[in-house]
Amino acid sequence: MNFRSLFFLPFLLSISITFTAAQISPGSSLSAAELNRTWASPNGTFSVGFTQVGPNSFLAGVNYNGGVPIWTAGGASAVVDSGGSFRFTSAGSLLLVNGSGSTVWDSNTARLGASSASIDDSGNLVLRNGSRPVWSSFANPTDTVVPAQNFTSGQTLVSGVYSFRLLNTGNLTLTWNGSITYWNQGLNSSVDSNLTSPILGLQPIGVAAISDPTLRSPYIVAYSSDYAEGSDILRFLKLDSDGNLRIYSSARGSGTTTMRWAALTDQCQVFGYCGNMGICSYNVTSSNPVCGCPSQNFEPVDPNDSRKGCRRKVEIQDCPGSATMLELDHARFLTYQPELSSQVFWVGISACRLNCLVSGSCLASTSLADGTGLCYLKTSEFVSGYQNPSLPSTSYVKVCGPIQPNPTGQIEVVGQSKGWKMKGWIVAVVVLSTLAGLIAAEAGLWWWCCRHSPNFGSLSAQYALLEYASGAPVQFSYKELQRSTNGFKEKLGAGGFGAVYKGILANKTVVAVKQLEGIEQGERQFRMEVATISSTHHLNLVRLIGFCSEGRHRLLVYEFMKNSSLDSFLFSTEDQSGKFLNWGCRFNIALGTARGITYLHEECRDCIVHCDIKPENILLDDNFNAKVSDFGLAKLINPKDHRYRTLKSVRGTRGYLAPEWLANLPITSKSDVYSYGMVLLETVSGRRNFEVSEQTNMKKFTVWAYEEFEKDNVRAIVDRRLLSTNGDDLDMEQITRLIGVGFWCIQEQPSQRPTMGKVVQMLEGITEFERPPVPRVVTEGSMSGTSMTMSSNASALSTFAPTSAPAPSLASSNNTSAVGGASSSPVASGGDLERASSSLLHSDAGAA
Ligand SMILES: *[C@@H]1O[C@H](CO)[C@@H](O)[C@H](O)[C@H]1NC(C)=O
Ligand SMILES: *[C@@H]1O[C@H](CO)[C@@H](O)[C@H](O)[C@H]1NC(C)=O
Ligand SMILES: *[C@@H]1O[C@H](CO)[C@@H](O)[C@H](O)[C@H]1NC(C)=O
Ligand SMILES: *[C@@H]1O[C@H](CO)[C@@H](O)[C@H](O)[C@H]1NC(C)=O
Ligand SMILES: *[C@@H]1O[C@H](CO)[C@@H](O)[C@H](O)[C@H]1NC(C)=O
Ligand SMILES: *[C@@H]1O[C@H](CO)[C@@H](O)[C@H](O)[C@H]1NC(C)=O
Ligand SMILES: *[C@@H]1O[C@H](CO)[C@@H](O)[C@H](O)[C@H]1NC(C)=O
Ligand SMILES: *[C@@H]1O[C@H](CO)[C@@H](O)[C@H](O)[C@H]1NC(C)=O
Ligand SMILES: *[C@@H]1O[C@H](CO)[C@@H](O)[C@H](O)[C@H]1NC(C)=O
Ligand SMILES: *[C@@H]1O[C@H](CO)[C@@H](O)[C@H](O)[C@H]1NC(C)=O
Ligand SMILES: *[C@@H]1O[C@H](CO)[C@@H](O)[C@H](O)[C@H]1NC(C)=O
Ligand SMILES: *[C@@H]1O[C@H](CO)[C@@H](O)[C@H](O)[C@H]1NC(C)=O
Repeated sequence: MNFRSLFFLPFLLSISITFTAAQISPGSSLSAAELNRTWASPNGTFSVGFTQVGPNSFLAGVNYNGGVPIWTAGGASAVVDSGGSFRFTSAGSLLLVNGSGSTVWDSNTARLGASSASIDDSGNLVLRNGSRPVWSSFANPTDTVVPAQNFTSGQTLVSGVYSFRLLNTGNLTLTWNGSITYWNQGLNSSVDSNLTSPILGLQPIGVAAISDPTLRSPYIVAYSSDYAEGSDILRFLKLDSDGNLRIYSSARGSGTTTMRWAALTDQCQVFGYCGNMGICSYNVTSSNPVCGCPSQNFEPVDPNDSRKGCRRKVEIQDCPGSATMLELDHARFLTYQPELSSQVFWVGISACRLNCLVSGSCLASTSLADGTGLCYLKTSEFVSGYQNPSLPSTSYVKVCGPIQPNPTGQIEVVGQSKGWKMKGWIVAVVVLSTLAGLIAAEAGLWWWCCRHSPNFGSLSAQYALLEYASGAPVQFSYKELQRSTNGFKEKLGAGGFGAVYKGILANKTVVAVKQLEGIEQGERQFRMEVATISSTHHLNLVRLIGFCSEGRHRLLVYEFMKNSSLDSFLFSTEDQSGKFLNWGCRFNIALGTARGITYLHEECRDCIVHCDIKPENILLDDNFNAKVSDFGLAKLINPKDHRYRTLKSVRGTRGYLAPEWLANLPITSKSDVYSYGMVLLETVSGRRNFEVSEQTNMKKFTVWAYEEFEKDNVRAIVDRRLLSTNGDDLDMEQITRLIGVGFWCIQEQPSQRPTMGKVVQMLEGITEFERPPVPRVVTEGSMSGTSMTMSSNASALSTFAPTSAPAPSLASSNNTSAVGGASSSPVASGGDLERASSSLLHSDAGAA
């Protein structure tokens, strides 16, 4: 015996052993305790046996030479202990039995009459009745496809919550939890064929292709990067537990695998890779994705496994009133396409955030900045996030406030952005120190040459500018404002809180200066309110530039709105040419106003109730964008002061006041909704809500409008100027929706009125709404003709407005109680009282 034959001996030996073991006789079994004992294929390429996957846990299956599994009995969850066994029973079934004796997996072939089993050199484990195959591992794949295996459209690869399928159309899909498809690749559109029975196969050289009787040649899906290279290499397609489909190659006997192709080149695109609420991102030091939580408002479900996802420390339902939206830059929520088309909208970024905040079912939203302007709302329980500096999108997650951002250096803050933050700091420090230096220099200069000059103001103006740059409102001196308004010469209007004058600041900025009246608050409180107002920024809110608080003078400086207020357009007479708004403009104004108010109600930490919504307070900028003004001012007047609710404020807002004002019931954000509803109806009709004319059948406009609305005669309500200008191009559906929303807003019971957020959604058509019930205005219909006028002394009013006094007899009059039934009133006497007392006001308005 020479050296050469010695060398071949083990090889020959193994052949003789495996060959005999290729046929598996009934009654034989393998034990998890004996890992070397296997059932091998004739030339030893594949074998059936146990693999150890953990301490005292084993899987049974078919392995490639070297120990790479290609099929697993019962899948990855079918682990057994060292007492486990894998049997081919004489009844014809393959069984995986745990040490305890319980059956973990069964091929269920006993009734098919399988009398023999074998493992062949292609890796197929087959059960036969005679020579007819009744079951095979190739036909029941787990997570892997090898060459010679035909993967058909009825089969599924499963790995954890992920599954892979071939559709009849030839599309390949990856799906999460059987519901969300995050990868769907079809045939090239140049393939003109309707497939009949597509098969996905992997050629031994490493080419994955779909074949079908209708295709002249196989359609190539993917080439492995090492295709047609090397020898004795097994390529296989595997759905990994991370949800990605890959082609691997493994050299015979090596036991190692190398990835050669992946369906998703970006692992973070796999839905749910980081679990629920987990954010997938990349860390500069490695190309592997990392999972993190959106912010410190979350904690990992399992601190040892970041892929298990995150949960809120405080759930949203345990957090009434302080839910807010956490902003995640360059982040998006998978998947595309979303589960429901009703979760995709064309709205801007702030609306995208807001719509989610106000919607009870929405958990997160993504606004794409890729030019599509799309907003995706995530309403499903499971939210999968992805953050990457290259993603052109911003996402929001609903959390219980306050927001606790992740500390820098955490996984979530990708290294690059950390770098940017550092740079930001350096820039900020440099800029600030330069500015400080400049100020010091200027102060020194002033001290040196101008200390005796009376022109001290210039420095204070500089200082004010600096203050402005840092976001705080500018404090002006009374003299400065007197100068910029030319001695309060050009009056723009007189609002509920004082007159407004036009002014021009030293830097030529045009402003509106409001001289507040009747402010009895101390300086400190005033400054606090000013700080609140000026920190309230929204596209649809007038910006506060600065203020003045000197002695008894209290002034507010606002940005100037070129197109003045909405009322000047709505109620201008027809001969005033040019003062007309087309329908598109009106709709945008209605929507913008609603957004502005929503911001006040639902976005700010402390909810601001405007208390004085009316067309006069809706200003229009150069592009006719609506800007709500005068918000936050109601607070300046002591709300506990009884005079707050007296005639003075009532007079200013006649027609727009919610009934609860006069019933002395709590004023809530729903009171603004009522006023907004009136504005909405006026925007459509171009008429004051309390107008009474021949045209309205001598009824109050809103009463008459509801009757026409009920008769589906919407055109009668619409501004005649709109009808004559836009004619048949008018979007009557949109108009009807606006009117309907208006009637919802002016419901008598605050609880029946929608929130402003809901109003925005209804206007946008995101939320469907039912026909509005009879609004309160109709209940007054019978009284609108009476000539009762509101007396000018507050005492007459207060008779009807005690908080808890029993209802006066007026409240139980037949008229009111008859209609009272229409809106099931939870506070019956209060409701009657409201109606009775406010009828006075409205009838006054009608008569006026
Ligand atoms: C079985 O495997 C062990 C190592 O796991 C090895 O030491 C032993 O020699 C093997 N037995 C046979 C019969 O091959
Ligand atoms: C098998 O038994 C072990 C304990 O002996 C247990 O941990 C394991 O979960 C069992 N496997 C199955 C699939 O029931
Ligand atoms: C097994 O095959 C034989 C012959 O083909 C057939 O007669 C018998 O019914 C089969 N057994 C079962 C259980 O299908
Ligand atoms: C084993 O058999 C298969 C199928 O006949 C063949 O493709 C493969 O090359 C063989 N391997 C060895 C090592 O003989
Ligand atoms: C796969 O399909 C081809 C033809 O489509 C067939 O010849 C071959 O036998 C099939 N292989 C298996 C294992 O079913
Ligand atoms: C997966 O789907 C099932 C229903 O098919 C559902 O009950 C379960 O909650 C889903 N899992 C997750 C994490 O959403
Ligand atoms: C197949 O995939 C294409 C994209 O490659 C997609 O447009 C098409 O809708 C998919 N078809 C099905 C039935 O999923
Ligand atoms: C379809 O395939 C042809 C050639 O096979 C290629 O030229 C074309 O770019 C492909 N089209 C798409 C959309 O992939
Ligand atoms: C595929 O089916 C569609 C509709 O069923 C038909 O219009 C088309 O011609 C078919 N294409 C081929 C190549 O048969
Ligand atoms: C990046 O990943 C590596 C290894 O994956 C890890 O050691 C390192 O801490 C990570 N860096 C950050 C900033 O998370
Ligand atoms: C002028 O100054 C005011 C505040 O002092 C500021 O809001 C405004 O932006 C400035 N305008 C210009 C053009 O710099
Ligand atoms: C009150 O109205 C109801 C029906 O609306 C009527 O039947 C009843 O007679 C009226 N009562 C009085 C006192 O007018």
